[in-house]
Amino acid sequence: MKRFLLLTLPVLIIVAAGFMIFGLIQAGFEEDKMMDDLYRKASAVAESAEVSAALILTNNNLKAANNLVESFQKRERMQGCILYDKKGKVIAETKRIKGWQGSERKYIKDVITTGELSKGIEKFNEYTVYRYAIPVKNDNGRVLGAVELVYDTSYVFSQLTTLWKRIGIFSILLVVFTMLALLLLQRQIFILPVLRLTDWFKKFQKGEINTNIPIKEQDEFGRLISEVEQVALSLRVARRSVSEDATRRVERTELWTEARLKTLIHARVGDNAMIIVSNREPYMHVRDEEGKVRCITPAGGVVTALDPIMKASGGTWIAHGSGDADKLFVNSKDKLGVPVEDPRYILKRVWLTKQEEEGYYYGFSNEGLWPLCHMTHTRPEFKQADWEMYKTVNAKFAQSVLDELPVNGGFVFIQDYHFTLLPKMIKEKRPDVTVAMFWHIPWPNPEVFAICPYYQDILEGMLGCDLLGFHVQYHCNNFLDTVNRLLESRINTETFSIVRAGMETFVKPFPISIEDDNYGAKESARYASAGEKMKNEYGLQDKIIGIGVDRIDYTKGLVERMLAIEALLDKNPQYRGKLVFVQIGAPSRTHIKSYHDLNSALDAEVERINWKFGDGDWKPVIYLKRHFSQEEIIPFYMIADFCVVSSLHDGMNLVAKEYVASKEKLDGVLVLSTFTGAAREFGDAVLINPYSTVEFAQALEKAITMDPVEKRRRMENMRATIKNNNVYKWAGDIISQITGLKKQA
Ligand code: G6P
Repeated sequence: MKRFLLLTLPVLIIVAAGFMIFGLIQAGFEEDKMMDDLYRKASAVAESAEVSAALILTNNNLKAANNLVESFQKRERMQGCILYDKKGKVIAETKRIKGWQGSERKYIKDVITTGELSKGIEKFNEYTVYRYAIPVKNDNGRVLGAVELVYDTSYVFSQLTTLWKRIGIFSILLVVFTMLALLLLQRQIFILPVLRLTDWFKKFQKGEINTNIPIKEQDEFGRLISEVEQVALSLRVARRSVSEDATRRVERTELWTEARLKTLIHARVGDNAMIIVSNREPYMHVRDEEGKVRCITPAGGVVTALDPIMKASGGTWIAHGSGDADKLFVNSKDKLGVPVEDPRYILKRVWLTKQEEEGYYYGFSNEGLWPLCHMTHTRPEFKQADWEMYKTVNAKFAQSVLDELPVNGGFVFIQDYHFTLLPKMIKEKRPDVTVAMFWHIPWPNPEVFAICPYYQDILEGMLGCDLLGFHVQYHCNNFLDTVNRLLESRINTETFSIVRAGMETFVKPFPISIEDDNYGAKESARYASAGEKMKNEYGLQDKIIGIGVDRIDYTKGLVERMLAIEALLDKNPQYRGKLVFVQIGAPSRTHIKSYHDLNSALDAEVERINWKFGDGDWKPVIYLKRHFSQEEIIPFYMIADFCVVSSLHDGMNLVAKEYVASKEKLDGVLVLSTFTGAAREFGDAVLINPYSTVEFAQALEKAITMDPVEKRRRMENMRATIKNNNVYKWAGDIISQITGLKKQA
């Protein structure tokens, strides 16, 4: 509309102004004509009255004078006649103009003395009148008096008003017709071709267009469209040839790298780029305390693992836009290219209302499913209102995914417990789409899962997947048991799949990992010097340094960790003044009471232990409670002699893998809870039961006193595990598995 007004307004102003000027000229012309008519009429009437007036004035016949002036009384409109003697005194005047001009009639005197006529426009009461006075002369040319005629001119103005009204109506009609004509013209030559082009592009994006069928447009637009078509065509051809080339190359490489995954994705997923869905977005625009906007990568395993995958594969990541400045950085379709400084894939942000976020994220997902799946003795809460919001938000995300899907096929990869209903919602609308889901947290046994009042809907929702992944076989088994016990279905224990309602869902373990090259290997010198700076900044020179990096979550065993440090220092006073444990804690879900309480409990524990052992400048725990970027964390990993991961229950735990990947010099020890998925891969970590403070403290002592050769051996083994099982392999396995299943089908 704005653009249309911009185009039409100047035209309309010119048309209206032109018509106004024409109106002014026409009105002036009409007015002149009517006044001229009046003048002629007045002069004719005056001249005919002059003869009678001369007779009347010569004979001083007052009766005849009255008759003469009263003959005007009967005429239409305000008109009158006045007869003056040679002194300019009124002898007779028409009744309705009695008192005309009061007593002052200077121009009459002029008429009598000069013998010249006088005319003009005057005001009389509410009337505008035209007066016309001529001298009355006898046969000798002597002036006997004067006769004055008065005419109402209001009809002139009323006729002019009618004329202006007509001009006004014509102007409006002209403006309306011009607008309509311009609208039609604009639609024909601009809007329709643009709409056709947009539609064509939309279809092209979704793979619906047969590029051999061009859109027919003539002229400049046609040429532009034809150029665009050519670019699109070359893009498609290039993509296809890359994908075919990739198919040939995929089997040749050994280790999993970004390039190998890229090749696999081109070969197996091809043109239909991947769509990832998660609640947490990989890049979040937030305002800091000073109101400055920063783009941060939120803490958490999903983001850590999947961002490198998406950088390799391209495609679209759909997530909740939860940053308070997120809306400032998206285009009209709520999308932006990320990473912002070097875009490699598309992030599509979905907006949620406060109520939706409260019910779906804080409520059902994190007060219900999260404690249900983690054995930490935190009671799950299931509220009907939260469940309703959870369903609403899943439907919202389903629509967002459906909007992005190509016309044929497509691959949707859903993350975590926030979206259990999404697979079925997508499959119902688009059975041709391949849907995989990865469950990043543990899956409990059937008795525990049945606590959830909505277990049936949740399981049915998840069984909309073609492939369902967990970190470890144990969680797969728990899931198969749960479905077996709670749903009518057929479990195939040979293929690890579930058949229900004519659909088969494969359930497999895929231990998630990290992009190991990113943790110091590439820029070790830079990170090492940053590590030295940290040592100076936090007074860590010559100290035994321990590190913990966690979201502040009750599943992470943070209070248990503090108790173990206390027990270690109680039992080994020689470490007082020597050992410093740096705990990096990213505040998380603080809106939930259990998290809020944990924050206070942890603050109190750190305070208590530091007070108990603190001496001078030294205190045993440095607690850094804020969000740290990966760049900031790596130097801490590098300088730490040991790292503690003490989760009470954890799907995998990628901090354990990040620490190992950062230890290029093989000079660290990982203290790891047996209740993590990572413990299954890292037999060379010092394994602990975080519930046992004594055992935990002994493990810390073991880590501190471990022989360097032993440290190297263990670290080498763990690093080899990550090298062979990095995140590219994780994604590669999932994609190979799912595309393999499709082929078999
Ligand atoms: C865990 C979950 C993720 C989640 C992350 C961070 O790793 O499995 O889905 O993103 O925690 O939690 P948050 O609630 O901040 O996204």
